[in-house]
Amino acid sequence: MTEADFLTATRTFYDTVAEDYAARFLDALAKRPLDRAVLAGFAELVTAGGADGEVADLGCGPGEVTAYLASLGLPVFGLDLSESMLAIARREHPGLRFQQGSMLELELADGALAGVLSWYSSIHTPVDRLPGLFAEFHRVLAPGGHLLVAFQVGDEPRYHDRPFGHQVSLGFQRRRPEAVAELLSAAGFALVSRTVREPDDTLGEPTPQAALIARKPPRAAG
Ligand SMILES: C[S@@+](CC[C@H](N)C(=O)[O-])C[C@H]1O[C@@H](n2cnc3c(N)ncnc32)[C@H](O)[C@@H]1O
Repeated sequence: MTEADFLTATRTFYDTVAEDYAARFLDALAKRPLDRAVLAGFAELVTAGGADGEVADLGCGPGEVTAYLASLGLPVFGLDLSESMLAIARREHPGLRFQQGSMLELELADGALAGVLSWYSSIHTPVDRLPGLFAEFHRVLAPGGHLLVAFQVGDEPRYHDRPFGHQVSLGFQRRRPEAVAELLSAAGFALVSRTVREPDDTLGEPTPQAALIARKPPRAAG
């Protein structure tokens, strides 16, 4: 089966910009206390949720967030389309596992994971592919497992044309939290929290930032 065009475009883009992207966002979390708070809440929910399995950081990029979740005690690994991103993640975080793949078709058994993180990685997935993406997240989560999806809020996509001087370009979708919440619910998730923070001008963020936490319902007792 040939890869969808949007996946090829995404992979090519990140393979090309990986080193510059990583240098720019290396300490991104250190400057974003509210993002750390959401991730810490997610980690605690996963731990308390009682679902068995690892946590997957899907679309992990250079692995900073993977490492942060690991520092909070989660048994986490990263997955990304881009081999160049993965090379940086392995270099920067040698104690963690990073593997190549597409989060739209995970080579994982049903119910294998206690947690799924998609931290600004669904932003390159076209809207008509989101139901399939969220169905895949639901499939690989164990009953009672948690999902965190973060993305930029808005209606208009942003187009990154020749970033850092490279001859590549790629669209980034912005979304409405209520629309994403509806899709998660349609995929079988129960929404746990919907957090929207204002853009931080000092970090060059043009729009608010959303983080939705949802849970695959636990198996009914008895
Ligand atoms: C904006 S970056 C975010 C990276 C990282 N989560 C972070 O916050 O630093 C988006 C990442 O998602 C990855 N990605 C996009 N679509 C993907 C897919 N279908 N499967 C796996 N990775 C994907 C890209 O290769 C890229 O590394």
